[in-house]
Amino acid sequence: QAGQIADSMGYKIYAAGGLVRDVLLGQESLDVDLVVEGDGIRLAQELGKIYDVRVRQHPKFGTAEVVFSDEFKIDVATARVEFYAYPAALPQVESSTLHQDLYRRDFTINAMAVALNENSFGTLIDFFDGREDLQYHTVRVLHNLSFIEDPIRILRAIRFEQRYGFKIEPQTLKYLKETVRRGVLARVSNERLWEELKHILLEPEANSMLRRMGELAVWPDVFPRVNYWEVEPVLKDLPQSMRQISDWGMMPLNSRWLVYFIAVLHWSDTGVARNICEKYGISKRQTEKVLAALQGWSRAVALIWKAPQYVKVSHLAKVLLQMPRESYPMLLAILEDEKLKERFRQLLNIIEDSKPKTNGKYIKHLGYRPGPVYREVLDALWRERLDGNLRTEEDEHAFVRD
Ligand code: CTP
Repeated sequence: QAGQIADSMGYKIYAAGGLVRDVLLGQESLDVDLVVEGDGIRLAQELGKIYDVRVRQHPKFGTAEVVFSDEFKIDVATARVEFYAYPAALPQVESSTLHQDLYRRDFTINAMAVALNENSFGTLIDFFDGREDLQYHTVRVLHNLSFIEDPIRILRAIRFEQRYGFKIEPQTLKYLKETVRRGVLARVSNERLWEELKHILLEPEANSMLRRMGELAVWPDVFPRVNYWEVEPVLKDLPQSMRQISDWGMMPLNSRWLVYFIAVLHWSDTGVARNICEKYGISKRQTEKVLAALQGWSRAVALIWKAPQYVKVSHLAKVLLQMPRESYPMLLAILEDEKLKERFRQLLNIIEDSKPKTNGKYIKHLGYRPGPVYREVLDALWRERLDGNLRTEEDEHAFVRD
């Protein structure tokens, strides 16, 4: 459809970037990134009209987004058109504008385009041998200043390398290390840094990305004053622990990033962790979760280590419940020993199964006016349930009446 609209407007149009890469890799891609030789904003408006959806315009950059839904947007960019005095030079100019657009991009694998106009539909435009790099599993910059121009590409290189199991090409790796050494990453705004970091923490291969960031000395810029090597063993085991906890039905899926974030910070002082949460604008609620995890984990581990006869289940449950669920995979990874892991699983089960059947209604029924006594009674009830002292609902009622 975009091709037909462009045809009717006399523009050339291409799909570029991640979409082309993913299609060539045979992978699904939701990002559509169009480059128009012509007025990209006008074309976006036409698309918006036809599909009756919103269009966000950025006239300063000649770009627009056609917003179909939260998950699906089409980005439209205008390839810079330059003025040439000789009409004969025109075709060359046209292709050179696309060339310029692609040359500004990060890696060869992201700098390919596919023509969408009807008469050239499907033609691959690959000025920088991106296809060959895809074939040989290589992440390669287009020129030596790529990382300096946009240091966030340091993280992107690592993300693509680990996501696809590729290798950063040796010369590119040299540029990358040189840029890291010069501390350029520290100049990136915290917003952009967090956007990229969260992207990384949500990837299935997040742990190998964090590992690679550690090897390439990126951590000091991204997680100031956090030592990668201290948390490496836990990060390594985190994916497996996450899988286990989710198999037990105990993992909220939408907060994978927080699981990693907590594991990254678990060895740090609260001051260091607080600063990093602030740096990235982490919400108050989530910052509290991070801090609760930091404060609770060593006590929880120590209690799980103790022989069960010396620890009241209700005591352990209290410590565990003060920690967010997102810290449980980390706890499991720290426990290491299979027997302790199994104990932890049993504990979570007991906690899950021990919620009292009695609630505030019953207390009201006894004639008490609502107030703090409700909380006290219900907490006490629950402790007794956890320690195995009350088995039936009748036991619970008798306990409340006493
Ligand atoms: N791009 C770039 N430099 C950046 C960010 C993006 O050159 N710092 C270019 C790349 O050509 C990239 C395109 O813009 O392919 C779109 O960027 P984005 O949507 O962020 O990434 P994708 O490559 O689509 O990757 P992902 O699959 O992770 O969304």
